[in-house]
Amino acid sequence: MTSVFVSGTDTDVGKTRISVALVELFQQQGLQVAVMKPIASGCEMTGSGLRNDDALKLIEQSNLALDYHVVNPYSFALAIAPHIAAKQVNEDIDLAVIKQCFSQLQQRSDSVVVEGAGGWLVPINDTETMADLAKSLALPVILVVGIKLGCINHALLTVAAIKQSGLVLQGWVANQCEHNDQAEEIISTLDKMIFAPCLGSVPFLSEQQSAAEFLVLNANQ
Ligand SMILES: Nc1ncnc2c1ncn2[C@@H]1O[C@H](COP(=O)(O)OP(=O)(O)OP(=O)(O)O)[C@@H](O)[C@H]1O
Ligand SMILES: [Mg+2]
Repeated sequence: MTSVFVSGTDTDVGKTRISVALVELFQQQGLQVAVMKPIASGCEMTGSGLRNDDALKLIEQSNLALDYHVVNPYSFALAIAPHIAAKQVNEDIDLAVIKQCFSQLQQRSDSVVVEGAGGWLVPINDTETMADLAKSLALPVILVVGIKLGCINHALLTVAAIKQSGLVLQGWVANQCEHNDQAEEIISTLDKMIFAPCLGSVPFLSEQQSAAEFLVLNANQ
């Protein structure tokens, strides 16, 4: 395994937090790690153009000097579904462009950690979804499950859809992004029902704390 695609059971479940931790973990294993947030809605206009917080956090953790537009080729100002955001500014999200950026990053690194947007079947245009993006990059998938009410259903549906796509589910992460009294039972149920390894159970963390120490994944295997 070299590069990975990080998906989630929903928006706001910890994909960025876990992606940053994966970059850190792979760096600890001696790898040069590049990052990608191919499609980002909810960007701020800066002097150098639109900038997305997830992409900036990932770039900050990477040990490579990366061109922002290669990391995040599609940036949209409004924090809305990407295909709607793209339509509003008459832009077309083209997987070939994303693939080309990914190849550039891959050539310069040992591993690329790619963060999706929203969940697995979020549309990116009228005909394609995030699943097609992951397929076009042919990456193993890591699923971040935000441990909260409803997540078992979301996780199992997502696992089934990943399987249907033909991609490998490398593993899943139980991320306690909010306090939940049933967390232990939920995680134990997921563990029994998901036929892929749990790469770690991440407790509710303080702002500064890294999730890396809670993850077990050897990027060199
Ligand atoms: N284990 C955790 N403990 C405490 N806070 C967490 C944890 N995981 C995530 N968070 C917080 O929850 C919020 C959402 O996390 P994050 O931005 O990583 O989600 P996301 O899935 O990447 O969202 P998006 O769909 O917008 O990309 C952030 O403020 C993050 O710091
Ligand atoms: Mg994110």
